[in-house]
Amino acid sequence: MPPDKSISHRAAMMGAIAAGTTVIDRYLQAADTLATLEALRALGVEVQGPEGEGRVVIRGRPLSEGGLAEPEGVVDAGNSGTTLRLLMGLAAAHPIFWVATGDASLRRRPMGRVIEPLTRMGASIWARQGQRAPLAMRGGALHAIAWKGPVASAQVKSAVLLAGVQARGITRVEEPAPSRDHTERMLPLFGVHLLSGPGWVQLEGPQTLQGCHLTVPGDPSSAAFLWVAAAMHPGSRVRTCGVSLNPTRIEVLQVLSEMGADVRMEPATPPSAPEPWGDVTVMGPERLRPFRIAGRRVPLLIDELPVLAVAALRAQGTSLIQDAAELRVKESDRIEGLARGLAALGARVEALPDGWRIEGPQRFPGGVADSCGDHRLAMSLAVAALAGDGPSVVKGSRCARISFPGFARTLDVLARAGGGRVEEAA
Ligand code: S3P
Repeated sequence: MPPDKSISHRAAMMGAIAAGTTVIDRYLQAADTLATLEALRALGVEVQGPEGEGRVVIRGRPLSEGGLAEPEGVVDAGNSGTTLRLLMGLAAAHPIFWVATGDASLRRRPMGRVIEPLTRMGASIWARQGQRAPLAMRGGALHAIAWKGPVASAQVKSAVLLAGVQARGITRVEEPAPSRDHTERMLPLFGVHLLSGPGWVQLEGPQTLQGCHLTVPGDPSSAAFLWVAAAMHPGSRVRTCGVSLNPTRIEVLQVLSEMGADVRMEPATPPSAPEPWGDVTVMGPERLRPFRIAGRRVPLLIDELPVLAVAALRAQGTSLIQDAAELRVKESDRIEGLARGLAALGARVEALPDGWRIEGPQRFPGGVADSCGDHRLAMSLAVAALAGDGPSVVKGSRCARISFPGFARTLDVLARAGGGRVEEAA
């Protein structure tokens, strides 16, 4: 499996403000995480790699050693919300002026959710109308805050914590529901003391991070496409090795198991792992049961909801996903994009303001669907296309490389085992 995107971003960012050297093994070599390395280089951080299997070596620039440098040009976060939002938190305590932008998708996404807490902490931030990028920022001495965000977002939580660890006083973040917890798991590996529980984290700053050695596990959000593909095809079996088994990331396995898929986990965590990991096997049953997903489960499934909606096409009954309006402000409006893409393949899902209603089981002919340039929609539609009666085309599917380089090749291996085929056009 490709290495985890969230963990790769965080390891590089923490390394960038840590004293000494940080060595990251199996750093994700995909567009989003490479954008983070470029942005850190623009801020004066010495970054070597990725080399070979993804070794990245970072010499940090903590505030105690002069801090991040003012970039000469505009920092480009590309398609990556995590790059931009976490970087804003990381740089907020550094007395530099910088300007950041991203691609058309990122320039449409809401940045107010990080601008507000960081401004309260003392950073100056100017943004385009609607609190969108491009934006400009001048950091400086920060004071700690207690932040209760209106949305459960690991990106916002992480931005505030990365600022907070460099600010004076006790920073506390409370979320309406727990989101992925990589930041609070990783900061202690860099020597930071913090307290945390489900939905809250607290730390006292300033603390200087100490460089360390980390190995990145496989990304469960990438593996989810293969797990769902296995679950949708009776008698098929997919085994993914070395995947993060962080409980805030593998709720999708719980859903697949409730649907009737046979899910097996074999934990095996190597010593330099920042979190639990192991191998996962998913086997497709004769029949799938429908599901209902809402409330506190949503943040734990946020990136897997589109492909779960695809899985529901094979379930015997009505599946429902609600309370997931956040999907409308991801790399694209995933609620509309998936409904349109599946309609183009001849499948019907009803777009709701905050999710989808899916009647199953459905047979559908296949067709020509548009990825909307959104990596997770491209991969979800490809998994749907495998279950269609005829051939399908997913337009713009090369954007899968944003998080899962080699996706088409990997899916092709699985498809061929069942008499199908996946090709990627140039
Ligand atoms: C991410 C958090 C999620 C997720 C994104 C990566 C992270 O966003 O959708 O792909 O690495 O923190 P939100 O927590 O902002 O919903």
